[in-house]
Amino acid sequence: MKVTVVGAGNVGATCADVLAYKDIVNEVVLLDIKDGVAEGKSLDIFQKAPIDLYDTRLIGSTNDYSKTANSDVVVITSGLPRKPGMTRDDLIATNAGIVKTVTENVVKYSPNAIIIVVSNPLDVMTYQAHLTSKMPRNRVIGMAGILDTARYRAFIAEELNVSPKDIQAVLLGGHGDTMVPLPRYTTVGGIPVTELIDADKLQGILERTKRGGGECVKLMGTSAWYAPGSAAAQMVEAIVKDQKRVFPVCMQLKGEFGINDCYLGVPVVLGKNGVERILEIKLNDAELQLLKDSEKAVKVVMGVLDNIK
Ligand code: NAI
Ligand code: 2OP
Repeated sequence: MKVTVVGAGNVGATCADVLAYKDIVNEVVLLDIKDGVAEGKSLDIFQKAPIDLYDTRLIGSTNDYSKTANSDVVVITSGLPRKPGMTRDDLIATNAGIVKTVTENVVKYSPNAIIIVVSNPLDVMTYQAHLTSKMPRNRVIGMAGILDTARYRAFIAEELNVSPKDIQAVLLGGHGDTMVPLPRYTTVGGIPVTELIDADKLQGILERTKRGGGECVKLMGTSAWYAPGSAAAQMVEAIVKDQKRVFPVCMQLKGEFGINDCYLGVPVVLGKNGVERILEIKLNDAELQLLKDSEKAVKVVMGVLDNIK
């Protein structure tokens, strides 16, 4: 299996590193426009193989897409990250141009790849990549839900002083302040979280989750990369190993949850065909309203992209 990661910055290099040290694929191509950076990081990651004991081969490329030919999965992380004070939406024009060019090159050399978009603003960059690629919607998807859910799960684990492994949760909607965590579908070792954390505290955790990306930006002066890189690698693993994992993934909705032509995070089954099934879970009126609010917010940014086009 061959995977290309476009963008050898913080998130892309971390994703390539996780794919390598977990021996998820045979070959990872890391590509960037900055001269030598992808080659250098690939070399560094491969020189770690004798220490961490993995076989994955790494190939660096400065904007030469022929090296990416016939990739099974391509992860797009190229673009500017958020700086303090910037919203994800501020990034739209620059990153849309980058994602468009990158997707054209990806499709030219790997017409059968599944594309995972990471660049922000995530939901709208997934829209851009889907439009440009002209591929079916199950093959052009965005990573945000695994990260946002991981933040939510980590905060719950911290609050209860239990292992993060035992927190199961799902979160819907856009990758932004209107994301929709679902306490009703959150469990701690099978116990509903609402039995263990009182409503006020849980509300605090939900709010912190929504601001999870911004919290890291404020602390570091740039956006997070360890959890985002691992989250993207986990999606790759589910696809290349045909694991049928259940994750929230951003994709075009066509009537699911009563929403049309909007790119939002929903729970799906992820396997060798990309999204194999959308799990249309039942939502109560309040949850549905939050999802509609998220749809509205994402559609505003989709409108910005439509105007740029
Ligand atoms: P970074 O600045 O460390 O890396 C971005 C890399 O993209 C740079 O090395 C740059 O040279 C490269 N690049 C720019 N234009 C390119 C092009 N046309 N072709 C190939 N490479 C190109 O940024 P970082 O932290 O890795 O973030 C990358 C993107 O991911 C940002 O848009 C960020 O906002 C987003 N992000 C999304 C998350 C999510 O949950 N979806 C989470 C974290 C970051
Ligand atoms: C994050 O959530 C900024 O989207 C980026 O960390």
